[in-house]
Amino acid sequence: GLDVGALLKETGYVTYDPGFVNTAATSSEITYIDGDEGILRYRGYPIEQLAEHSSFLEVTYLLIYGELPTSDELAEFTDKIRRHTLLHEDFRGFFDGFPRDAHPMPVLSSAVSALSTFYQDSLDPFDRDQVEISTIRMLAKVPTIASYAYKKSIGQPLLYPDNSLGYVEDFLRMTFGVPATKYEVDPVMAKALDMLFILHADHEQNCSTSTVRLVGSANANMFVSVAAGVNALMGPLHGGANQAVLEMLHQIQADGGDVKAFVNKVKNREAGVKLMGFGHRVYKNYDPRAAIVKKSAQDVLSRMAKADPLLELAMQLEEIALADDFFVSRKLYPNVDFYTGLIYKAMGFPTKMFTVLFALGRLPGWIAQWREMIADPATKIGRPRQLYTGAAKRDYVGIEQR
Ligand code: ACO
Repeated sequence: GLDVGALLKETGYVTYDPGFVNTAATSSEITYIDGDEGILRYRGYPIEQLAEHSSFLEVTYLLIYGELPTSDELAEFTDKIRRHTLLHEDFRGFFDGFPRDAHPMPVLSSAVSALSTFYQDSLDPFDRDQVEISTIRMLAKVPTIASYAYKKSIGQPLLYPDNSLGYVEDFLRMTFGVPATKYEVDPVMAKALDMLFILHADHEQNCSTSTVRLVGSANANMFVSVAAGVNALMGPLHGGANQAVLEMLHQIQADGGDVKAFVNKVKNREAGVKLMGFGHRVYKNYDPRAAIVKKSAQDVLSRMAKADPLLELAMQLEEIALADDFFVSRKLYPNVDFYTGLIYKAMGFPTKMFTVLFALGRLPGWIAQWREMIADPATKIGRPRQLYTGAAKRDYVGIEQR
């Protein structure tokens, strides 16, 4: 019932584009996506090559600084991050304030926001040194925060970072280790998680990244801008989909494992049921990340000797959906979230932590995009327009006359 033409005339000519389906809010040199061809490249490098040959910290460097690092540059970058993994001791008290069963995503976003209260010497978005140290602090401390949020939720003591370990390895130790007991990091698991982080590291102007840029366009500091991105990521239509996929698979299993019946429910649009982990605003072809994750799920699950009946259900779902005209005609393919939850589950993460893992992976992208936005002379404060559809002018009526 919205007469867009009439409204446009009344409002003056503005672009009406709900969901910014066709509006470029910025130019960017970071990530290239061709949704029709299923292509994803960071700084020109195909995601398949990075997933196979690179490491998460190397990709982080690439996204933020624009080039792959030399071995000296990578060593220096890694060393700087290691030296900043500790959180201020007072930060420990922060986690006590939340209920034990709190979802770790709002705990994470609150803590990332609170970094701006603990590290007030690096908040100026236009001071290069401060931006640099914020970048390092954020990359170093967010895994510590994420593992603390997890430890708190299960009532275990927090573990301090061990800087002799790699980035992903130490995160796994802080998450799954217990004090006074040696925790051996499983290299297969560490490699798989590192690769998943690479796949999540950036995805141009998605919902959370656009949020980071919008908040940052008001010259808000990097910590609070990224905290806003964490909140956006929590939504089940975005990063929260990895949790939603696993919940969906559990539900199908609990209902007797009838995949066809579930697909029919989705097609009949019963009670808003969607096929979680399917569909994407930009990819109208197989999400290239999903192809890599699917292979990895099969590999990791077989190498970790954890046969999971949910993987079987997921593969059946995919097969049925890809042969069904409802999904084919709408170009709905599995996205990156479709198989990731199964790997996270095999690694021992509870469902609630899945989106936190997405956030750890996406962190370099948020930082790189925030930095690009701040450094770009074309940046203006983000301020969309609207088409006003409310009441025409009317006079105030006293309460006794209403
Ligand atoms: N299951 C069933 N139908 C779907 C799905 C789905 N997962 N996704 C889209 N559709 C249908 C829509 O109902 C619509 O049908 P219609 O044209 O008959 O009305 C059509 O496909 C087009 O979909 P839109 O909603 O216009 O697509 P949009 O680009 O707005 O949404 C989104 C993209 C949010 C990803 C959507 O596909 C979705 O909700 N998917 C499930 C959640 C999910 O997996 N999110 C993760 C995204 S990837 C990421 O954040 C890493």
